[in-house]
Amino acid sequence: MNNLTLKNNTLYIGGVSTLDLAYTYGTPLYVMDEDLIRENMRAFKKSFDNYYSGNGLVCYASKAFCCLAVCRIAKEEGIGLDVVSAGELYTAVKADFDTSKILFHGNNKTLSELEYALEVGVGRIAVDNLSELEKLNAIAKNKNMIANIIFRIKPGIDAHTHDFVKTGQIDSKFGFALETGEAFEAVKRALEYENIKLLGLHCHIGSQIMDTEPFTHAAEVMFSLIEKIKIELDYEIDDLNLGGGFGIKYLETDDFIQYDDYIRDCSKIIAKITAEKGLKTPFILIEPGRSIVGPAGITLYTVGAVKNIPNIRKYVSIDGGMTDNPRYALYQSKYEILCANKASEPKTDIIALAGKCCESGDLIGMDLSLQKVAENDIIAVLATGAYNYSMSSNYNRIPKPPVVFVKDGKSRVVVKRETFEDIIRNDN
Ligand SMILES: Cc1ncc(COP(=O)(O)O)c(C=O)c1O
Repeated sequence: MNNLTLKNNTLYIGGVSTLDLAYTYGTPLYVMDEDLIRENMRAFKKSFDNYYSGNGLVCYASKAFCCLAVCRIAKEEGIGLDVVSAGELYTAVKADFDTSKILFHGNNKTLSELEYALEVGVGRIAVDNLSELEKLNAIAKNKNMIANIIFRIKPGIDAHTHDFVKTGQIDSKFGFALETGEAFEAVKRALEYENIKLLGLHCHIGSQIMDTEPFTHAAEVMFSLIEKIKIELDYEIDDLNLGGGFGIKYLETDDFIQYDDYIRDCSKIIAKITAEKGLKTPFILIEPGRSIVGPAGITLYTVGAVKNIPNIRKYVSIDGGMTDNPRYALYQSKYEILCANKASEPKTDIIALAGKCCESGDLIGMDLSLQKVAENDIIAVLATGAYNYSMSSNYNRIPKPPVVFVKDGKSRVVVKRETFEDIIRNDN
């Protein structure tokens, strides 16, 4: 990864030695390169400025990694935010984020979440189902407010990704199906509600997508609905949100597409369709999460036991695992790893990287190539900036690791390490 360097057989990130980081803060440790997070946000924003002349908004999908520090960075970089819970929204509010640039997702928002969203002035609520629409209208009416909404649509597209991160197909818990007519009926209903303002439509077809075609296809499909709404209901949609899901390079062998290519290809198809169909150019939104923070993060662990089962497998056990990175257990996700203190040496071993939880499935990966390691060596797992800290748990009452940002050769803690006191804080 381009934010990582090797010096004296040691791995560096953001100009800081990973061994110094492990020594100073302990392991397991999440480390994120602040400059790379900012660079990725700027890259998306620049593409939007180029291809949509500013007529759009990049909303960082904070589910990928949410804390005060990253919300402040998104604010400083002038982008918006996608949240999916009152907890993420609360974090953004505490970071003093401009709530008009926040988009609130979720397939089962509670009444109190909807109320909170209206109270703090969230710019757009992505309504997922009819019961939510009804509840939101009633809450808005009670508060004498208008709720600005977009509808989450399932465009019926298979983005060729893992089943658990696919969301655009009809058999999904998210949103309104397009092909059954459900989405169109929902639009009709929204137009009848007095305290609802329908701004637009949204789709998110999946994650870790490595091709621009599913995105352009989704845009085409969404415009078929926009056109139908205009013709049959005489209503022009203002916003089109094409979701997130831009793939990142987890492995050396992963094909990587520049984010600019996705935005360029989508803008071309949007310009073509709007011209052909005589539709106005909508305000375009996207919600990249993984692509902004994923490549910026690594996780550092200390090796404990090394167990060689002759002719079967070598297990290298580390002081973290599925509690700080559940992605292998969830989706068999693949990572590159290396020994941070033997970083220039050849990788001669094939190992399973095992966590310390009481679960056989607690692995960071199987059949990973690694330098020959021994107890107390430091392992770096690469590209862990997305869906690691944010998906971490306290299983086995293991405290969550801290998050440290590195920049210009310096480091700072942005999320503290949990203590055992934190673990029992809510116990009676
Ligand atoms: C609605 C929505 N938008 C955006 C994202 C972010 O996706 P990614 O992190 O792959 O860019 C997700 C991920 O689950 C999502 O469900």
